[in-house]
Amino acid sequence: MTKTKVENYFDQWASDYNLAFQKEAQEKNPLQKLINFLFRRKTFYFRNKHLEDLILSLKVKNKKILDIGCGPGQTALFAANQGAQVIGLDISKEMIRMAQKNAKKTRLSTSAKFMVKDCVKENIPSADIIFCIAVLEYYKDIEPIIKKMCQASHETLVICDTQFILWRIMLRKLLSYFKGFPVYYHNSLKIEAMARKYGFKTTKIIDLHTFRTYVFSRKKH
Ligand SMILES: C[S@@+](CC[C@H](N)C(=O)[O-])C[C@H]1O[C@@H](n2cnc3c(N)ncnc32)[C@H](O)[C@@H]1O
Repeated sequence: MTKTKVENYFDQWASDYNLAFQKEAQEKNPLQKLINFLFRRKTFYFRNKHLEDLILSLKVKNKKILDIGCGPGQTALFAANQGAQVIGLDISKEMIRMAQKNAKKTRLSTSAKFMVKDCVKENIPSADIIFCIAVLEYYKDIEPIIKKMCQASHETLVICDTQFILWRIMLRKLLSYFKGFPVYYHNSLKIEAMARKYGFKTTKIIDLHTFRTYVFSRKKH
């Protein structure tokens, strides 16, 4: 199977991506250093803090959680630290290696398992809560992904996507030329309509910094 450009990119730069979660870091690649400086570091700081608050409010103890496109595992590991049983999936084997390393460092390897999986092309396991943080932006046609996540979630689906901020869109579109793949900005109403179509209702939408978080809950019959 040939590697997708997204997989290739995150495989190559997983370690520099992981460094964006740390304040003082020495990235290997100058372009990654610039991306971390311009976009990731501040966004990750706000996003992590916000996701941690959200995870605490969801009362995840003993819940089964799936983190789609988990990257180096920060969200998954926070949930595992709150007593959840977590599976993190990512298309990039380097990201998964990084997540496993982070799990070992934080002694959470028993409650947080990380596996390589293309969540667009392959089946995903079911869970009480599904997280999909900063992944949809790499795909043009997101309905099949949202459908799959809605079918796999028993209770809650949390999607975090990039907001329309003109200067960031322009800069990211330019950078995507160097990265070799495009980024897509998705309409909120369409995301909500897709979740509704597959049995979920919007519980909360939170706009913060440069991202928007949707919390969807399964509709009761
Ligand atoms: C911007 S990173 C976000 C990582 C993490 N969720 C976070 O919040 O830091 C996007 C991640 O999605 C992963 N990804 C992209 N397409 C995927 C797919 N089809 N299946 C699984 N993971 C995917 C990438 O490898 C990458 O680790």
